[in-house]
Amino acid sequence: MFEKITAAPADPILGLTEEFKKDTRAEKINLGVGIYKDESSNTPVLATVKKAEAILLEKETTKSYLAIPGTPEYGLAVQRLLFGADSSIISDKRAQTAQAPGGTGALRLAAEFIKRQLGDVKVWLSNPTWANHKGVFSAAGLEIAEYTYYDAETKDMDFDAAIADLANAAPGDVVLLHGCCHNPTGIDPDAAQWQKLAELCVEKQLLPMFDFAYQGFANGVEEDAQGLRIFAAKCEELLIASSFSKNFGLYNERVGAFTLVAKDAEQSTTAFSQVKTIARVIYSNPPAHGAAVVTEILNDDALRTDWEQELAEMRDRIQEMRVLFVQTLKEQGVEADFSFIERQNGMFSFSGLNKDQVNRLKEEFGIYIVGSGRISVAGMTKSNMLPLCKGIAAVI
Ligand code: LMR
Repeated sequence: MFEKITAAPADPILGLTEEFKKDTRAEKINLGVGIYKDESSNTPVLATVKKAEAILLEKETTKSYLAIPGTPEYGLAVQRLLFGADSSIISDKRAQTAQAPGGTGALRLAAEFIKRQLGDVKVWLSNPTWANHKGVFSAAGLEIAEYTYYDAETKDMDFDAAIADLANAAPGDVVLLHGCCHNPTGIDPDAAQWQKLAELCVEKQLLPMFDFAYQGFANGVEEDAQGLRIFAAKCEELLIASSFSKNFGLYNERVGAFTLVAKDAEQSTTAFSQVKTIARVIYSNPPAHGAAVVTEILNDDALRTDWEQELAEMRDRIQEMRVLFVQTLKEQGVEADFSFIERQNGMFSFSGLNKDQVNRLKEEFGIYIVGSGRISVAGMTKSNMLPLCKGIAAVI
């Protein structure tokens, strides 16, 4: 039976890591997948995570199943991060949160919820967007549309084009926004632009959905929620997919959350009952460990302070690499202006390198970059900077 099956193409991001691992060159550099590396190119377990795990080892009394949406403590901790601890969305019980297996699991829950409960609406994705967005929403049977996001000339957001494209969306359509640190461009709307986008969604009756995978990597945990909170103040209904892979370094624990905000507590409870049904038929109920770690850290004042400090260190190191990258490229005689890299947020930058250049970097220098030209700045270190910039200088 299986002889009819043809091979699937490799994943553009995770497939690249598989290739990287097989590469035997000692000087190889992986700037593909978005994983934070320290100066020694390690992805360490955060000290606050280790402390929370030690506490959990003592406290844990059972490995019994969690409820379908995970624990209420986790749900509340997630909502406080998203909307702010004093948000009326929380006190009015307009939000409900399901722990999900990673950010991708949260997106898939959202996609299934949209398809089964909201019908044949379109999901508007930014162009460009994270390579897996199309796959996740299409897998749920949803139609995809795109709105312009990036201007290759100015290396900035093409905000007017985004608004013009979204003006073509029909009432009920879903607009996917990146909460901060837009993946792959690293370019986020400013406060005035968030306002305009929120107004457009209200005016055209579009359903905003946030993919929030990098909270804390642009300016800070609270600061990075600015766009979401602008929307939360204006829109009665919202969907949010959170990921704690990067900001807690819990990549392989698969800790995410799907949060639904409705007009009132009753509608929220009813809509959420459908989310529970969806989770039950996909993975039944979530794994406990990673979410327990996140809950422990967020609910303990000292651990939370230390976590924000560790997050700030990751953010600052990436920013330092941005500056060093631009400077080293110049020193290597690259005349093209790369200063836009310093203005972008989070782990990624859209380098402008074309497919040919990306291929040559891999083949000739062992430098791995996603085919779109997206670079994970989080993978740069002081020691790989020179070979990296020499390689780039040679291909452009
Ligand atoms: C990325 O964009 O590199 C990360 O979100 C990892 C992934 O799953 O693609």
